[in-house]
Amino acid sequence: MESTPSAWSDADGYLADLLVGHDSHLEAALDAQREAGLPEIEVAPVGGKLLNLLVRISGARRVLEIGTLGGYSTIWMARAVGPDGLVVTVEAEADNAAVARRSIDAAGVGDRVDIRVGRAEDVLPTLEGGFDLVFIDADKESNTLYLDWAATLGHPGTVVVLDNIGRDGEIVRDDTTDPKVIGTRAGLRMLGEDPRFDATALQTVGVKGWDGIALAIVV
Ligand code: DHB
Ligand code: MG
Repeated sequence: MESTPSAWSDADGYLADLLVGHDSHLEAALDAQREAGLPEIEVAPVGGKLLNLLVRISGARRVLEIGTLGGYSTIWMARAVGPDGLVVTVEAEADNAAVARRSIDAAGVGDRVDIRVGRAEDVLPTLEGGFDLVFIDADKESNTLYLDWAATLGHPGTVVVLDNIGRDGEIVRDDTTDPKVIGTRAGLRMLGEDPRFDATALQTVGVKGWDGIALAIVV
């Protein structure tokens, strides 16, 4: 096989069919997001399942998500925290939050999801801490601010997941002028240097092209 974006996408679909399957609530959330004109930049199905597994493997009961979009990843994690768990998810765009609210409620997990509408830099200082897992998937320019809050609102052992660390390999460019790449690089540097974190990162190819996630623990 030749390594091309369409081959990555086909293989990703094959894995998702085998390991993730189909789910009417999740697919409805994606339909609602598309119909509302939101960008189709949610995590891939295999990525949503990974978040679900990370919550369960870590036993997380309180999850913080920064960047709700249409609620697709939120539903994946809300299912994993169980009936007594909580997902607090922060979304800057009120229109996105309204779409997410409907999809999350329709998926039957609305009682365990608290959507906070506002810019994360304003909302995060108002939250009560004690989060066991933090998923950062918002504006890449603010990655270091969000990582700082993840450490502050977490505790030793908190799992931190940072999305979109590959960016088509652009992360190696130290002369980049792309603000998203600059923000991604700054987040990765912080995960490497800040003694509050112990981290690694994995590149991914698939339906979202060439990208990746960083995974850290608050030490
Ligand atoms: C972008 C943001 C995302 O969270 C993502 O998963 C893919 C792309 C973006 O802003 O380019
Ligand atoms: Mg993302």
